[in-house]
Amino acid sequence: MTESPLILSELDDDGVLLVTMNRPQKKNAFHEPQWDALANTLNEAKDNPAVAVVVLTGAGGNFSSGADLSSFSGEPRPPRTDGKASAFFACVDSLFEFDKPILAAVNGVAVGGGCTIAVACDITYVGDDIRMRLPFANLGLVPEIASSYILQANIGRQRANELMFTAEWIDAARAVEMGMAARSFPAAEVLDATIGKAREIAQWPVSALRGIKQTLQVAHQAGIESARKVEDDIMMKLAGSPENIEAVTAFMQKRKPDFKQFR
Ligand code: COA
Repeated sequence: MTESPLILSELDDDGVLLVTMNRPQKKNAFHEPQWDALANTLNEAKDNPAVAVVVLTGAGGNFSSGADLSSFSGEPRPPRTDGKASAFFACVDSLFEFDKPILAAVNGVAVGGGCTIAVACDITYVGDDIRMRLPFANLGLVPEIASSYILQANIGRQRANELMFTAEWIDAARAVEMGMAARSFPAAEVLDATIGKAREIAQWPVSALRGIKQTLQVAHQAGIESARKVEDDIMMKLAGSPENIEAVTAFMQKRKPDFKQFR
C-alpha cells in the first residue's frame, strides 16, 4: 500500500484494514494532502483482495475536526491545475465508492467533515468522550458529504433539522439514542471493540459483504447523489462570502463571530 504519514494503514491477518487519520496536532483536520491520502488508501483497499473490512479512526484521541480552516483561501474546493477533481471531491467519491464494509471508531472530536465522514460509514461506534457537531450554520455554510441526506436517513427529519440549524454539540448518549451511532463504549475501548466487530464481519465471504452493502445502499443512492449535488452547488456560492470569512477569521482569532453586522 502507498504509505503516507497523514493516513496510516495496517492490515491484519483477518482482513481488517485499520486506517488512522494522523494529524493529531490539528485534531486530524483535513487539508488537501490529507484528503488525497485518504482517497488513495480507500481506492487501494477497494482493489486489494486481502482487505475485507476497513476500520477508520483518528490518532491522538480525536476522530477529526473536519476541513482545515487555516488553509481556507476563500475558495471552497480549489480546482487543480491538472484538471482533476479537487482533493476533497476525489476523497468523497472514494468514500461513497468503497464497496466493502467501513466502520468508524470515533473518539474525542468529530466535527464538520469529521462528523459527516463518521456518520457516512456503514457502522459508527463512539467512545463516551465524543464531541460531535455539524458546524455549518455557524460557519455560514451548508452541509457536505451528503450529510443533509444521510443524517435524515439515520436519525429522521426533525432531529436532523434541529442539529443542522442549531449547530449544537452532541454527546455519545445522544448520538446513540438518536441513531447517529450504533453503540457507545468507554473511550479507551472503542477502537478495540470496533476492530473486534470488524473481525467478526471479516470472517464472511467478501462477495457476500459486497453484495449486502450494495443491497443496503440501493435505497439511498439517489438521495446521496442529489444531496451531494445541491450541497456542492450551494457550498460554492457561500464559501468565501463575508459571513463565512467572518466565521473562519473569528475561529483563527479565537473569538466569537459577529454575524449581526450582516443583517
Ligand atoms: N482547522 C484548522 N485547525 C484546527 C481545526 C480545523 N478544523 N480544528 C482544530 N484546529 C487546531 C486549533 O486551531 C488548535 O491549533 P493551535 O494549537 O495552533 O491553536 C489545535 O487544532 C487544537 O484545537 P483547539 O481548538 O485548541 O482544541 P479544542 O479541544 O478547544 O477544540 C474543536 C476542538 C475541534 C472543537 C475546535 O478546534 C473547533 O471547533 N475546530 C473547528 C471545527 C470546524 O469548524 N471544522 C470545519 C468544519 S467544515
